Amino acid sequence: MKLALIGYGKMGHMIAQAARLRTHDIVCTVDLFAQDASCITSDTSEMVRAVRESGAEGIIEFSHPASVFANISALIPTGIPLVVGTTGWLDRLPEIAAQVELNKSALLHASNFSVGVNLFYRMVSEAARLMASFEEYDVALFESHHNQKADSPSGTGLDIAKRILAQIPRKTKLVTDSFERKPESDELHLASVRVGSVPGTHTVWFDSSADTIELTHTARNREAFAIGAVRAIEWLCQPLDSGHVKNGIYTMDDVFDSL
Ligand SMILES: NC(=O)c1ccc[n+]([C@@H]2O[C@H](COP(=O)([O-])OP(=O)(O)OC[C@H]3O[C@@H](n4cnc5c(N)ncnc54)[C@H](O)[C@@H]3O)[C@@H](O)[C@H]2O)c1
Repeated sequence: MKLALIGYGKMGHMIAQAARLRTHDIVCTVDLFAQDASCITSDTSEMVRAVRESGAEGIIEFSHPASVFANISALIPTGIPLVVGTTGWLDRLPEIAAQVELNKSALLHASNFSVGVNLFYRMVSEAARLMASFEEYDVALFESHHNQKADSPSGTGLDIAKRILAQIPRKTKLVTDSFERKPESDELHLASVRVGSVPGTHTVWFDSSADTIELTHTARNREAFAIGAVRAIEWLCQPLDSGHVKNGIYTMDDVFDSL
């Protein structure tokens, strides 16, 4: 498959490597600064022109939380299936969903493309479902990432929190700031730390007066994100069983459900 990469930083380079190993061609790389990108620009029209001229059949976007909304808004009208890994924009998902529907295009987004994290999501959901009937257990979340990460809390942390809130009715509100007071019993605390080179660690605590149950996912490197993003674009470009092309908004849950 011919692929275009928007954002040619650490993830962009790893995705290029993972895609070539799976016999795809990288026909276009767009970045603000990267000297080895095929198109260096901050102009979204120029980005779209480069993507169209490259003949790309799929696009993968890993840029920056400040750029992602403008980038994907400009790319959706091309109708080329688009995978988005950049985090920090999901509050604007309804606007993007409307553009995707209008253009009958396909967009898959995930705060975390690693197979392990997507399995972890399912384990946390199941653990939270079990814990829902045991009121003596409180629950909280902790995430740590490298000190170059632009957004906080992590999109993965927010995804985990959403799954816990969906399963445990006694938790109704997410709190991501530090507490200046005692937490209310219906508040779910998600704490973030930024330090050094940590690729990403997420821990869920279920805590009672008698014991603690801790579930942790630790990313060892970024390879899993890159492979997952390539698998996601392969999945998005595959037609449905009916033979029709996919259109609409998808997540890694859809990829997993089809496995
Ligand atoms: N979903 C996942 O699985 C996952 C995994 C890792 C990282 N991420 C996210 O991906 C994003 C990129 O991560 P990274 O580690 O590669 O960062 P990075 O800083 O190494 O690279 C980002 C690149 O995007 C470029 N860029 C910024 N604005 C741009 C624009 N308007 N057009 C084109 N290029 C632009 C920058 O110049 C830079 O080279 C971050 O938001 C990060 O949180 C997501």
